[in-house]
Formats: sequence, structure tokens, C-alpha cells
Amino acid sequence: MTTRLICSANHGFAPYAQEELRRRFGAVKSRFLVPGEVFVAALEEPAENVVEQLVSQPPIFLRHMFVVDQAWEVAGQGESGAEREDAVHPAWISELQGLLKKDDRLQQSRIAIQTRKSEQSAWSSSAAELKDAIQGGLDELNAEFVVRDADWIISVFAAVDAVYMGIAKPEHNISDWNGGAVRFQKEEGQISRAKFKLLEAEKVFGIDFSSFHQALDIGAAPGGWTSFLLERGLDVTAVDPAKLHPSVLASPRLTYIQKNAGRVQFKDNQFDLLVCDMSWSPKLTAKLVTELLYCLVPGGTAVITVKLLTKKPMALIQEVMTTFQDARLQIQRAKQLFHNRDEITLYMVKY
Ligand SMILES: C[S@@+](CC[C@H](N)C(=O)[O-])C[C@H]1O[C@@H](n2cnc3c(N)ncnc32)[C@H](O)[C@@H]1O
Repeated sequence: MTTRLICSANHGFAPYAQEELRRRFGAVKSRFLVPGEVFVAALEEPAENVVEQLVSQPPIFLRHMFVVDQAWEVAGQGESGAEREDAVHPAWISELQGLLKKDDRLQQSRIAIQTRKSEQSAWSSSAAELKDAIQGGLDELNAEFVVRDADWIISVFAAVDAVYMGIAKPEHNISDWNGGAVRFQKEEGQISRAKFKLLEAEKVFGIDFSSFHQALDIGAAPGGWTSFLLERGLDVTAVDPAKLHPSVLASPRLTYIQKNAGRVQFKDNQFDLLVCDMSWSPKLTAKLVTELLYCLVPGGTAVITVKLLTKKPMALIQEVMTTFQDARLQIQRAKQLFHNRDEITLYMVKY
């Protein structure tokens, strides 16, 4: 039985998402819809097994997927990019709406319609207009159309020569965000975009940061993570030879040590949270963090970014994870978050 999936990863990391699928399911035929980012994969495995496997053991690089329930082959845009005659309401939209209207599960439910498209696409207008076009014909479902907390997500990807559609419970798509792209509003006065990484880790890993008391932030400057932890009510010790932003320095709950983290000393079990975002050699980061683990209380949490400075990230990640495991850190999740660039985030608990 062939299952088709539309899979997304951070730009440039889709080959590793493909590798993850191959390691789990054997032969995988795949074709890029957006180079380096989105691909359609065909696996010889029932869809329920694929979903169960991927949800119970979430992959690192595969950020989002949906099982294709229906696909329409369509003639793509002409070379000139000129719109086709039927572009406003092509036949496949009517057929897609027909399928949705017949689906009893969708009646009176909360529905999110998530649409995406490739640059050259069977749908020449925007993805938002595609969503409106689909939703516009679904009145008789008596559904509530929502963006978050849906009962069902209808995913549509309009590629150059085909349109793919899948209906799924949000938890079955790995991420309930459209394509796994977790969007946050930039706040006024936000110190760094790095803050989004910790905000996303909070949501995606389900970490309740406000439950901690004493945090150590290694590689803290300019202070995005530190400001986030202060906002969650923690006392924060920030270590960085570089300068913290003045707005963070004003906090009475901050201890700032303007030093290399290799030259600091703490008390045993002083912290219940250790975060580290040093953008540095992964092996040296792992060494530095493991040497500081005496100051993290057993049961304490560590959130660490690991830079992927190599053409063999899978092997590197394994090596770094083994170093942490040997140092009594149990890996809860390893994931390339949407806001991670050339890195992944590890969420670990000390035992
Ligand atoms: C990507 S930035 C951190 C951004 C920060 N998480 C934020 O939210 O604003 C990396 C920081 O790590 C610091 N760093 C690199 N090596 C370090 C070391 N050995 N000890 C302490 N800080 C280090 C750098 O000075 C730099 O400020």
C-alpha cells in the first residue's frame, strides 16, 4: 500500500528529512515541490502506521507533513506565467470542495484550512486567496473556520503540475502550524530574534518555563533568551564575554557574569534550568556544558542549541547526544525548530 506525504523541512534541510524517512520506512520515492524545503514522498506502508510512527517518535528535521488523501494533476502555468482561463475557479477546487462537503467528520466542526503553493504553481494567485476560494464554497458544512485549535486541518499544497489535499487531526501533522512554520509577532524593543527559538521550544516541547526558579544562560548576549526567562519570572545568571543589552541589565533578578563560560564557577545544584545558545563548535559546546553540569540540580532541565557545521549532521547529532547522555542528561526531544537556522535544539533532563 502506497502512502503519499507532503513533507516540509527548514530550507536546505529537506535531504535530511528524506534520510529520516528512509531510515524508518526503507525505500522512499520523493520529488521536490520547493527545492530543499518541500517534497512529496511515496512510502510502501499504510498511512496509519506512518502517522503513528512519526507522531510517537518525532523526527528531527521533518518539520511538518500531511498524508495526501486526494491529488489532482493539473496543467501548470505557462512559461510566461500568464494566468490560465480557469485560474479564478479551476475545476479541481470544485472537486475538492465536493469531497469536503461529503465528509461527515467536518460537519459543525472547527476547521483550519492551510494552503501553500510553490513559486510556479497550478494556482497563480496567493496561498491566502486559495484558502478563501476553498472556504467560500463550504457554507453547508456549518463549520467554524479557525486558525488555531482546530478539530480538523485541511491541508492543500498547489505545486506546478499537481494539487495535493489531506484532512487530518492537528496532532497527526507533526506540527499544527501551516507547513510547521511557527510565526510569532516581533515585540517592540525585542532584543534578538533568538528569543523566538525559546518561545518555540516552550510551545513545541511543552516546557513550562515559569515552573523553574534559577536559570543559567550560557552565551547569553545580547539577551533575547535572558529577557524571555526574566519575563517568565526566573532569576537568571547570564554568562557571556559580550555585552548584554541595557534593557536586560536593568532587571534586579539578573546576575551578569561577563566572562567566557569556561572560566566560571558555581555552587553544586545551584540551578534548575540551564540554557545554552552559543553558536559555537558543537563538540566544544557539549564539553563545556557537561563540565558545568554539577551546577544543574538532578531533575533540572537543559535546553541547548547545537550548530550543524558539517555535511554529516546526522552523525554529529548522534555524537553530541551520546556525550550528553553519558553525562546523565536524558534526551527528551531533539528537533530542528522553525526558528533554528543551521542548528537543532536539544531538550534534556538531568537524572
Ligand atoms: C547566538 S548568540 C546568543 C544569542 C542569545 N541566546 C540571545 O537570545 O540573544 C551567541 C553568544 O554566545 C557567546 N559565546 C560564545 N562562546 C562563548 C563562551 N565560551 N562562553 C560564553 N559565551 C560564549 C557569544 O559571545 C555570543 O554572544
